[in-house]
Amino acid sequence: MYYITTAIDYTNGPPHIGHAYEKVLADVLARWHRMKGEEVYFLTGVDQHGQKVQQTAEKLGITPQEHVDNITARFLALWERLGISYDSWAATTDPRHKACVQKILTSLKDKGQLYKKSYRGFYSVRQEQFLTDKERDENGNFGPEWGEVVELEEENWYFRLADQAEWMKQFVEKSGSFVLPAFRKAEVLNAIERSFDADLCISRPKERLSWGIELPFDPDFVTYVWFDALINYVSFAGYLAEPGSGLPEFSKLWPADCEVIGKDILVPAHGVYWPAMLHAMGFSDEEMPTLLVHGWWNINGEKMSKSIGNVVDPNLLVEEFGPEPVRYYLVRDITTGKDANFDADRLVMLYNTELANDLGNLRNRSINMTRRYCESVLPAPGEYDDDASKALRATMDQAVVQFSRFMDENMVSDALAALNAQVSACNAYIEQQQPWQLAKDEASAPRLGCVLRHLLECCAQTGYLIGCVLPGASSRILEQLNADSLFQGLTPSVLSWGVLPAGHRINDPAPVFPRILSEEEKAKLAEKAAKAANKQG
Ligand code: MSP
Repeated sequence: MYYITTAIDYTNGPPHIGHAYEKVLADVLARWHRMKGEEVYFLTGVDQHGQKVQQTAEKLGITPQEHVDNITARFLALWERLGISYDSWAATTDPRHKACVQKILTSLKDKGQLYKKSYRGFYSVRQEQFLTDKERDENGNFGPEWGEVVELEEENWYFRLADQAEWMKQFVEKSGSFVLPAFRKAEVLNAIERSFDADLCISRPKERLSWGIELPFDPDFVTYVWFDALINYVSFAGYLAEPGSGLPEFSKLWPADCEVIGKDILVPAHGVYWPAMLHAMGFSDEEMPTLLVHGWWNINGEKMSKSIGNVVDPNLLVEEFGPEPVRYYLVRDITTGKDANFDADRLVMLYNTELANDLGNLRNRSINMTRRYCESVLPAPGEYDDDASKALRATMDQAVVQFSRFMDENMVSDALAALNAQVSACNAYIEQQQPWQLAKDEASAPRLGCVLRHLLECCAQTGYLIGCVLPGASSRILEQLNADSLFQGLTPSVLSWGVLPAGHRINDPAPVFPRILSEEEKAKLAEKAAKAANKQG
């Protein structure tokens, strides 16, 4: 079973484009593995506890539960609009999750991994953590990223993080798959060095924060939000679940094949705390998850933030462009692991060029010409063949291999580029072969048949593969090619030339990628329509 999961989103504010990217990336990968015939468990959800939630709810004059319910509904609605095909929903207020967190806490305490002590120090309300001198800037101050910092003395429960230091170091050093892309490994190793002179505070006193999961052995405390949140990856995979909980069988899922997270939460949370927690819980090296760390979408080179006021609302994009252009852009214009600059003009440009013009025209022309010249029936392969057609078959096979390899490496943009290259090769082949000229001459019928067969087959294979990114467009393309059933039971690894049989009848074309018009183009069209109406009048 392929188990893919994402960070769970804070329900303190509405979703933004960064959240949408992570979900679309995970969705594309989940769909890819389903396409390969694997059984997939795709988990995503929301992180609902913590001080920020409690404070915002207080300000709004509603309960924390009401606040998180409102925000959760906005995430759920967006995932529905974007076609995120998750199999299970992780909400940290779910009683099954709470029960699992409490069982883990009890077991860690029984193993001597948790202890209580008093600590005086500086506390960041925004980050919900105590700060040390390492967090001070060159002037000795705590920077604005920590928000309000207050001095506190508090008794709390601590997890023996330092005990895991030696194991962590050797594990991360030798593991080839714990952190992807590999260049992020150094960050984790640095963080291990930095984090391990202190244990991890895993509780908050209820008098300060009550919105959390109560410690089962000390009811005056709730669990630190990160400790609670990280556990979602195992709790919703069925770890320590009660019979009849409706959760999957843990041993079938764990370890997670892919935990998709942003670079900001790699250290210390996912790269240090999480494996240390799992190891203390008794998980072996082989039972550690794989972290797929993506970069950030920035706006004009700047970090997206509420205070700058540059946060992009994915709902507005979906309203303006539709869900699939947004899905396409979010995985096309970023290299997995790296940052990118969000630019709506590039969304329009990439969609219009690669989908409306290239793939859209190829599909439209191929289907139309087959309808016009061959009554919508795929000609039987004859004697005719030529070098250009042979080359197109070879590049189609290569595109399938390259697409598959990039998708297996989680490099979605490169996979799409490989498909686009094949689409361009097909369009060049049309220009070179000029089927409309061949149709004028009866003697060229075998060559025309060869050309149309090649074009339809390439449309079908690219239309099929693009399904993990654009499920709606893919099914419309395959429907027009009447090829849905031909791909049933096929997987990309056995895909080879000749999916469409001789004599195959295709359906009529219909637009799949309507061009996104600029304001100028829209105005021109409106002007034209008005003129036409005037003339008529
Ligand atoms: N609740 C924690 C995660 C707990 S996982 C056990 C959290 N939530 S978050 O809402 O702040 O972020 C959710 C995800 O969105 C994170 O993986 C984060 O990296 C990602 N992104 C937030 N802003 C982003 C961009 N601007 N661009 C891309 N992804 C970004 O952290």
